[in-house]
Amino acid sequence: MSQNIINQEYSITKFEQNSLKNHQSFLIWVTGLSGSGKSTIANELFNTLFNKGFHAYALDGDNIRLGLNKDLAFSNADRTENLRRIGEVSKLLIDAGIITIAAFVSPLIEHRESIKSIVGSENFIEIFVSTPIEECEKRDVKGLYAKARKGEIKDFTGIDAPYEIPLSPNIEINTIQLSVEKAVEKIFDYLTDKLTIKQ
Ligand code: ADX
Repeated sequence: MSQNIINQEYSITKFEQNSLKNHQSFLIWVTGLSGSGKSTIANELFNTLFNKGFHAYALDGDNIRLGLNKDLAFSNADRTENLRRIGEVSKLLIDAGIITIAAFVSPLIEHRESIKSIVGSENFIEIFVSTPIEECEKRDVKGLYAKARKGEIKDFTGIDAPYEIPLSPNIEINTIQLSVEKAVEKIFDYLTDKLTIKQ
């Protein structure tokens, strides 16, 4: 499909955008089961970055599936396309100098690897929200686990669709052991060095 298309180089690059804002931009990828606390952590991290004067934006599985990706469901092919588009959107936001936080189940290692290769490994930080399924199911904030158990939702991650845990995430957050505030503190500490523009 991309034959006869030639890349156009623009003179304002990521470097200029980062220099204007005085911080680096990259992707903070938050993976974990539905109901693990990804969006809560992403939201609080976004608040923290914003309040400290960093230009960030948050992409969230539930929100994106109401708009850009409303044509996609939860087969592996649809999840792969969902995540490919988010990888490409993230790449654009990073280029625009924006710290991008993305909270998506992204259940397979190959999903996360392909996002990493779209944005570049130097721009990819993986956060694994490792709340166990028993706890996610107990919380069942959206009532989706109950529906999945009754067979009313098919291909539900952790019930009748797989979740492969990340093998070497940059940060792991278990929301049973760590409050949201402590989790965000841990993430922000990790980011501090990466936010600085290196000459
Ligand atoms: S992903 O697998 O393609 O990365 P994504 O993060 O966009 O998933 O969407 C997950 C959200 O959709 C969940 O938080 C949940 O609210 C909802 N959802 C609805 N059906 C499913 C399903 N079959 N599996 C997982 N999540 C589902």
